[in-house]
Amino acid sequence: MKEESFQVKYEVYSFNELPDAIQHLVSNAKEASNKAYAPYSQFYVGAAVKLQSGATYSGNNQENAAFPSGLCAERVLLNYVHANFPEDKPIALAIAAKKNTEFTKEPVTPCGSCLQVMAEFEAEWNKELDVYLYGENKVFHVKGVKHFLPFLFKSDFLVSKA
Ligand code: THU
Repeated sequence: MKEESFQVKYEVYSFNELPDAIQHLVSNAKEASNKAYAPYSQFYVGAAVKLQSGATYSGNNQENAAFPSGLCAERVLLNYVHANFPEDKPIALAIAAKKNTEFTKEPVTPCGSCLQVMAEFEAEWNKELDVYLYGENKVFHVKGVKHFLPFLFKSDFLVSKA
C-alpha cells in the first residue's frame, strides 16, 4: 500500500482587492441572484460567466415543486451559454448566494453536479475556468475545477482500454 494525495489551492480576497473586471462579474452574479426562482429553499443563487469574446451572461437557480426537476444556477447558466454560443470559450465564472435576503458571509461552493458540468467545458476548451465565489466576508478564487474535484469523472474513462 502507498498513500497518494492531491494538493488543492485557492486564493482568498476581499471584494475590494479584486480587479475591476472581476468585481463587475461578481456584481453581475449578485444581481442575478435577485431573479432566482427559489420558493422552496429561499436560497437564491446567481452565477455570471465571462466568455473569451468579452461577453458576459448570468443565470440563477430554478426550483420546481418536484424537487429533482429544479436546477442550480451554474448549470442553468453554463448550459444556456453552451447552447447559444458554442464557439465562445468560458474563461471566468462568479457565484454568489443569498439566504433569504442576505448574501452569505462565507463563499458558497458549487455542488458536485455543477462541478462536473464545469469540468466538461474546461475539457472541451482545454482551458481551466477561473472561479470566483462571493461571500460578504471574503471571496475565493479557485483556478480550475481540479481544485474542487480532483477525482472528477473524465471522458477518457469512456474510451480507456483499462
Ligand atoms: N444551488 C445552486 O444554485 N448552486 C449550487 O451550486 C448549490 C445549490 C441551488 C439549488 C437549490 O435551488 C438551492 O440552491 C438549494 O440547494
